[in-house]
Amino acid sequence: SEKERNQRIAAARAELGDDVLVLGHNYQRREVVEHADEIGDSYQLSEYAAASDAEHVIFCGVTFMAESADLLTDDDQTVYLPSMEASCPMAGMAEALQVDSAWQHITDAVDGDVIPITYMNSYADLKAFCAEHGGLVCTSSNADAAFEWALSRGDAVCFLPDKHLGWNTANAMGLGSQTVEFDPWADEADGEVADADVVLWNGYCQVHERFTAEHVAEARESHPNATVVVHPECRPEVVEAADVTGSTATIRETVTDADPGEAIIVGTEIHLVNHLDRWHDDVDVYPLCGDACMDCNAMRQVDPNYLTWILESLVAGEEHNSVRVDDGVAASAKVALDRMLDL
Ligand code: 13P
Ligand code: SF4
Repeated sequence: SEKERNQRIAAARAELGDDVLVLGHNYQRREVVEHADEIGDSYQLSEYAAASDAEHVIFCGVTFMAESADLLTDDDQTVYLPSMEASCPMAGMAEALQVDSAWQHITDAVDGDVIPITYMNSYADLKAFCAEHGGLVCTSSNADAAFEWALSRGDAVCFLPDKHLGWNTANAMGLGSQTVEFDPWADEADGEVADADVVLWNGYCQVHERFTAEHVAEARESHPNATVVVHPECRPEVVEAADVTGSTATIRETVTDADPGEAIIVGTEIHLVNHLDRWHDDVDVYPLCGDACMDCNAMRQVDPNYLTWILESLVAGEEHNSVRVDDGVAASAKVALDRMLDL
């Protein structure tokens, strides 16, 4: 039962004390985030990992987040992922080998120096590739600062893997008309690619892509006075129709700052919407699309029973599901992350 599991988790945590830090992404289910020391967006969790001295960091999130935590913690700390199946499909849409083989096509097609920026939602070897080509990492909460950083050093940005975050960021910075989606393997480069300031890789989030502008229109009709807040992984037309766009931390702040009785429509992964509804009795929180469950199947792989198993194994002196980035890519990948943390 849940009660019994909670008792087992509490007993293991009491045994491990400060040796263990449990981090939970905002999209994790209630039974997981209830046991997290810190709950946050990708950027906040990477900062918590970097600041922690805990010997064991259990990352309730997806693979790329645990990899980043491993890069940002010391060698004597270990990061664990409760389920090794928790891999973000978007991260798999831009594999380092694939980007490496496309890079010459991209730099040939665009005039001037191209600086790669990868979204946090990518594997460590792509982060390393970006650092080695003069670029960096960003999350949805600092993408604009990363674009500015890159454009002050080069003539154009190549943004990977999320075309929607890339477009929405460029558009908010007034760069919409100089932004193009580019197929590096097309026979002929489109004329406008040469002059582009921002070149987008064709990746996307399968959860956020499902929101449409019609969903926003329907939600506004049902709740005419509501504020609509969405994640920047949504399609441009959804972001344009919304009132506020931002990372999962910004979405949380929007609800936290709402007046009592205010209605907020939230366009993001359903577990965060449910947390916000539960955490804020005085605010009316609605999912942007109530008919379809916008549930991330990667985040869902982390089951509270796996968290229990990792904790009890540590008490027994056993380590399972540790995440270690290969030495060959770790140093460069950390440079890309440090450039982001220094923004
Ligand atoms: P945040 O950085 O906003 O938490 O987003 C992570 C993520 O995976 C969104 O789909
Ligand atoms: Fe990846 Fe989207 Fe899931 Fe975030 S919500 S982990 S981007 S699939």
